[in-house]
Amino acid sequence: MRHRRPFVAGNWKMNPATVAEAVALARAIVLATAQARVVEIAIAPPAVALLAVRDAIAASDVTLAVQDVHEHEKGAYTGGISAAMLRGIVTYVIVGHSEVRRDRGDTDARVNAKLRRALDAGLRPILCVGEMLEVRHSGRADEFVRGQVRAALSDVAMGQASRVTIAYEPIWAIGTGVPAHGEDARTTIAAAREEVGVLFGAATAHAVRMLYGGSVTGESIAEFAEQPGIDGALVGGASLVSDEFARICAAVGVARTRA
Ligand code: PGA
Repeated sequence: MRHRRPFVAGNWKMNPATVAEAVALARAIVLATAQARVVEIAIAPPAVALLAVRDAIAASDVTLAVQDVHEHEKGAYTGGISAAMLRGIVTYVIVGHSEVRRDRGDTDARVNAKLRRALDAGLRPILCVGEMLEVRHSGRADEFVRGQVRAALSDVAMGQASRVTIAYEPIWAIGTGVPAHGEDARTTIAAAREEVGVLFGAATAHAVRMLYGGSVTGESIAEFAEQPGIDGALVGGASLVSDEFARICAAVGVARTRA
């Protein structure tokens, strides 16, 4: 069976303050991560900085991601960015991030529409899923995440599903400085992978990359990268500091090479 390449993606959210700073951060990340060759590295700057950052990383192995995409193909959607517009600019599209679900009311159905638009445009979705604290406490986290995976991948063609990366990000762990326990992340990610298997078969379940996200730092990454079935991380805050981000990439490379 095909080996899954380790993957670390940095989600810059609404940072840094200017396009010039975004370009500087991208350059610093290229330099700091130059050694981490076994790991695929993507960065997701704000949309307004995509073109400038694309040029800044052009000569490197770092790939580009966008933080969101519109669910419709084109038309009167003020502020929207379509998947077709992103083609040739980004490789990856983050969909279903909990902040977008929370702030812009993205439902599972809209996440599904965005994911399919991205796939149809030849882009690779990074699908974010994750439960709220009450759900974790009630013991239904795995079931909840399986439901999100099922809804988001609904009507995805068999041959396209393996192009999706799934990031398990418990909402209570995002930006709080309190990561999940490695063991819980492993179990929930295994449940998500099992759900992909139910939907698309064992080969696809094996091929889909699964990331952990939520308060990942150079310190906390080891606990996740060493878990079987966790292929890397989706990183928020720590992806804004080039050396810290590089530490995470290096740790994922070391742990996954050993695994
Ligand atoms: P964080 O964010 O690393 O700052 O917790 C993770 C994310 O939202 O992807």
